[in-house]
Amino acid sequence: MDDKLFEKRYETYREAVEAYLNRLFLGDYPWGKLHESMRYSLLSGGKRVRPVLTLEVARLGGLRNWRRALPFACALELVHTYSLIHDDLPCMDDDALRRGKPTNHAVYGETMATLAGDALQAEAYGLIANALKLGTRAKVNAVASLSWASGANGMVAGQVLDLTDFGRDRWTLTMLCDKKTCFMIKCAAELGCAASNASSEVCNATQTYASLLGLAFQIQDDLLDVIGDEETFGKPIGSDKEEGKTTFVDLLGVDGCREEVRRLTAEAVEALHGVEDTAFLERLALNLAERTK
Ligand code: IPE
Ligand code: IPE
Ligand code: MG
Ligand code: MG
Ligand code: MG
Repeated sequence: MDDKLFEKRYETYREAVEAYLNRLFLGDYPWGKLHESMRYSLLSGGKRVRPVLTLEVARLGGLRNWRRALPFACALELVHTYSLIHDDLPCMDDDALRRGKPTNHAVYGETMATLAGDALQAEAYGLIANALKLGTRAKVNAVASLSWASGANGMVAGQVLDLTDFGRDRWTLTMLCDKKTCFMIKCAAELGCAASNASSEVCNATQTYASLLGLAFQIQDDLLDVIGDEETFGKPIGSDKEEGKTTFVDLLGVDGCREEVRRLTAEAVEALHGVEDTAFLERLALNLAERTK
């Protein structure tokens, strides 16, 4: 798939996600500051990798009108956004910059930022439950998948490993990244499969792809935390070191990380063999391996 075609489809998905998210939390309430802070983070220009992945997998899985999967895709983006708001809090990574803007707590204070995260998480399940065009089985599968990926043995467990004094050998670090990042990216594929009632071939291939993509994605994130450009990356450089974290850069070095990202990306693409029409996903993996933001 050439660049132009890839970008056009990515943009179509991204715009649909932006439009959907933009309609949320607009009511006029006495607690309007809460909604304002939720929208501040939700609409601050994330890459939307996870919802784009959900929509493309839904299309691959046979959902002709992929827009029907938007509530699932955006539910995941709500949970992702909550995880970022909380991740930046002083009690966690204590960061002041996110997506090129002051972090949520820097603008709205810690109390509101914590509550904005709480509300985004709960509202995500509401989006799934109220998805107009999807059936009960799809919704139950989506709830199970999102709760598993983000919950006590998933993303939050990953954050516990990241923020408490666990060992940082390769095995632990891989488990940590698997939970804090890969689970959520794999969930994107699972939600696409749930929305489209995809075949087991599509489910297996896209979910293996997404897991490998997730690990490459976190290694690239660790790398950009060291060698990235703050303005492009939109996050502070050197934050991991400042927090005293051992990351893949410490274990593998800069070149070792680049090599590992390449290897995992090739494996992710390989996992798609046997499924048709995967050019967009292949391109997505290759582009993410080169990302600077
Ligand atoms: C950041 O995720 C958190 C990680 C898992 C590294 P993204 O890089 O997808 O963040 P946004 O949504 O584009 O800001
Ligand atoms: C966070 O990992 C992953 C989450 C579960 C939010 P990082 O702490 O490396 O993410 P960034 O670099 O702040 O986006
Ligand atoms: Mg963190
Ligand atoms: Mg962080
Ligand atoms: Mg990081």
